[in-house]
Amino acid sequence: MEKMPENLGTREGLEAALAAYLPPEGGHQERVIDAMRDAFLAGGKRVRPRLMERVYRACGGEGAEILPFMAAIEMIHTSSLIHDDLPAMDGDTLRRGRPTTWVTYGEDMAVLAGDGLMIYAFETAEKALDMGADPKRVARAMGVLARETGIYGMIGGQTADVYWTGKPLTEELLTFIYENKTGALVRACAKIGAIMAGAGEELISAAVRMADCVGFAFQIRDDILDITADEATLGKNVGSDERNQKTTYVSLHGLKAAQEAVEAYSRQALDLLGSFPGDTGELEAMVRRLATREK
Ligand code: IPE
Ligand code: IPE
Ligand code: MG
Ligand code: MG
Ligand code: MG
Repeated sequence: MEKMPENLGTREGLEAALAAYLPPEGGHQERVIDAMRDAFLAGGKRVRPRLMERVYRACGGEGAEILPFMAAIEMIHTSSLIHDDLPAMDGDTLRRGRPTTWVTYGEDMAVLAGDGLMIYAFETAEKALDMGADPKRVARAMGVLARETGIYGMIGGQTADVYWTGKPLTEELLTFIYENKTGALVRACAKIGAIMAGAGEELISAAVRMADCVGFAFQIRDDILDITADEATLGKNVGSDERNQKTTYVSLHGLKAAQEAVEAYSRQALDLLGSFPGDTGELEAMVRRLATREK
């Protein structure tokens, strides 16, 4: 079993570990590969790979075979951001402190770069097999990755989000949107982390319930920041939801109730962490930090 890189706990260590999985520059695909690499390497908080790694450890996982899945989820997340920013969707021009992919590379390359990253994620995840991971776990984790990315996950949530833009939303529909456009990839992190660690069904389901709370809180906090943050700190456009006439948790309930909901969901996540066998200190700190994040 390969060991985790020693410096994975640092920001630089994580960046290097993730970047190693990107396709190399060059070839006749150069233009799209450049766009994929730029969007991915622009930074971002890396919440999803960190969450996956921490759930993996908290469920007793020790080897490095979680790394390909950590890179894969960040590729899928980045692909969702590239597409989300397109003029056909949110029409945003700033992301991770840089012009959005479609601004720099054109809409054609942004569509292809999003597609490219989304599918390269699966090639990447498969590399866990070369590291000696249990093939049954890898196959199940790949299935989770596909499901939570697709129409029953992130893409399903984005579909409802854009389809209902500018129209009045019910609370039920808003919940569906949050649970899927954002919740699905967060859920995938926890589920894959637990599966790859060899967790039993009960622990896998506790991890999923914990992640569902984290994902919901994460999107409400995102909606709050769209109103309260400054663009330089956030690294992406503010006021995007109002400009696009999006119904959000904040537009339905107000800023104060929204932050109370973030804290309530985060507390629920912390309670669920109580049933984990391993050390959950880092996970707990992460859940607390996300509830009051400023970017
Ligand atoms: C932004 O995600 C999109 C949402 C699902 C709310 P992040 O806030 O994790 O974006 P990065 O990865 O840090 O850029
Ligand atoms: C996006 O929600 C969720 C996904 C990209 C899947 P938002 O549209 O609120 O995300 P930001 O605010 O642009 O990052
Ligand atoms: Mg959007
Ligand atoms: Mg957006
Ligand atoms: Mg937003």
